[in-house]
Amino acid sequence: MAAIIDGKAISAQIREEIKEEVCSFVSKHGKAPSLTVVIVGEDPASQVYVRNKARACAQVGIVSDVIRLPADSDEDELLSLIKRLNEDSGVNGILVQLPLPDGFDEKKVICAIDPKKDVDAFGYENVGRILTGDYDFLPCTPAGVMELLRRSGIEVRGKDCVVVGRSNIVGKPMAALLLHENGTVTVCHSKTADLPSHTRRADILVAALGRPGFIKADMIKDGAVLIDVGINRREDGTLTGDVDFDGCFEKASAITPVPGGVGPMTITMLLKNTLKAAEKQI
Ligand code: GUN
Repeated sequence: MAAIIDGKAISAQIREEIKEEVCSFVSKHGKAPSLTVVIVGEDPASQVYVRNKARACAQVGIVSDVIRLPADSDEDELLSLIKRLNEDSGVNGILVQLPLPDGFDEKKVICAIDPKKDVDAFGYENVGRILTGDYDFLPCTPAGVMELLRRSGIEVRGKDCVVVGRSNIVGKPMAALLLHENGTVTVCHSKTADLPSHTRRADILVAALGRPGFIKADMIKDGAVLIDVGINRREDGTLTGDVDFDGCFEKASAITPVPGGVGPMTITMLLKNTLKAAEKQI
């Protein structure tokens, strides 16, 4: 039977720690760390994420600002806004919520953010730093997964780690972080031949492919640690992960639920990055 890795509780504990650090930052420097979130258009899921990010900032004493641009803004308008935020010493972290509406070059926009303020760590400089192990910021979701493993006492060193999904935001940086912790890492994707032969070898399996309930009990090893990064919305509006939670529960040794597993950790890591950005900019 699996132990449930309670991301909500672990996240709440880390947020308390961040709140204390923010408090001492304020007493030392007379101002709070600040994050500016830019959202373009009306994507409903993005609206929810941005609202949650602003709420989490307020909870720990980070000042946040949300700048909304209409979906029909042009790219130059967004690039000049980023330039202005880069030059504003009152802004420590900048986050442009993705996806951007059609017609925007996401890579160009993300790379326009000053790497010292790129709290998502999506820009080329930060990605290169992550890969070489010389980093200030880690991308929030993979960093959240590593923190969950650490705080649950799950050792990565020497383990067979299998990541299913190769996105720039999760799969690829996840593989790099597991490798930094001396895991033996396999990255699987939609073109992988005989996927179960890989997932069945995993001591630690990270599912980040975006297909509800895809990882079934017959695809995992006895005693596997299952980290579910999937957030899929069912027709009734409730959320479900990429792992068949009920089916895998008896066979796994530890599992993250959805919701309440990796999700809360992502925003927590954003708070941590914003505080770090502010400290680096003093
Ligand atoms: N859209 C979905 N997840 C993310 C994220 O972590 N950062 C940004 N900027 N956009 C997102």
